[in-house]
Amino acid sequence: MRPTVLSLLQKAEGFISGEEISGLLGISRAAVWKNIEKLREQGCRIEAVTRRGYRLLSVPDILAPELLPLSSGLFTSKIYYAPAVPSTNLWAKAEAAKGAPHGSLFLADSQLSGRGRLGREWASDSGGLTFSVLLRPDMPPAGVTSLTLAAGLAAAAALREKTGLEITIKWPNDLVLHGKKICGILTEMAAETDRIAFAAVGIGVNINNAGFPPELQQKATSLFAESGKVFDRGALLDAILLQLEKYYALFTQKGIKAILEEYAPLCITLGREVSAVLRDQTVTGIAKAVAPDGSLLLDTPQGEMRLLAGEVSVRGLLGYC
Ligand code: BTN
Repeated sequence: MRPTVLSLLQKAEGFISGEEISGLLGISRAAVWKNIEKLREQGCRIEAVTRRGYRLLSVPDILAPELLPLSSGLFTSKIYYAPAVPSTNLWAKAEAAKGAPHGSLFLADSQLSGRGRLGREWASDSGGLTFSVLLRPDMPPAGVTSLTLAAGLAAAAALREKTGLEITIKWPNDLVLHGKKICGILTEMAAETDRIAFAAVGIGVNINNAGFPPELQQKATSLFAESGKVFDRGALLDAILLQLEKYYALFTQKGIKAILEEYAPLCITLGREVSAVLRDQTVTGIAKAVAPDGSLLLDTPQGEMRLLAGEVSVRGLLGYC
């Protein structure tokens, strides 16, 4: 990642002189001052002391790209940011239709009508992280299921690494901590007859959310609620984007098998009793594997069954959730 005035201030752990910044970045002292003023306008608190230089006191908790430590190559080439939008997925799809490139990132501090899977809403209160990435993979429409599994694995890997918390995946791609959901993924796609035109992969993570509406309290939680720690949203976003880039490359180069090898050990659904409603009928069985097409294979008293998508209840997650 190329250093910036902000990243140098962050690294300095105290004062850093204007002269040093100007030398490290190869810009004039006047340009350093202009940068400092711009950061202040964006809400950064920066102390300036004669003969000592500048010291960063705080960075505002917003997802403005200039304030974020983003280091992914793929997901930093085109970034769209707004403090609030109806939904980053809707935004990504609208821009995709106008030609936004592969790897575009859509970020918002809050969503006014966040969308969840199966037509549900996604509560997008402050403290959470909501974003979408636009992908234009060269693959048939069926590949989108695997793409979503890869995204779930990426988010789980990043959040486990950065928080040290035992975050697991509930098939197909809910992230679960202590039996409650902390992250959901919604992939929406446009396809030509046999190729994906684009996929908008939307990720919502409950990070510092203090509470949830009564109807969600049994099902949803946040990293803060479970650990008592406040997490840096920008740092978690950076970690998720890096893992997304890594697992997207693994998926496109090596296929879904390579993804499933890492997905399976994190998938809390496997080996448990699962029930799902299929055409008005409840099916119960032991989840034994995720198949290469992304479906869940169940051992049931009636023989092997395959769940293609949708919602399963897993025994042992808060009783049965
Ligand atoms: C789910 O139901 O589990 C999926 C939730 C996906 C929420 C994310 S937040 C960012 C993106 N924009 C949306 O409107 N939804 C997705």
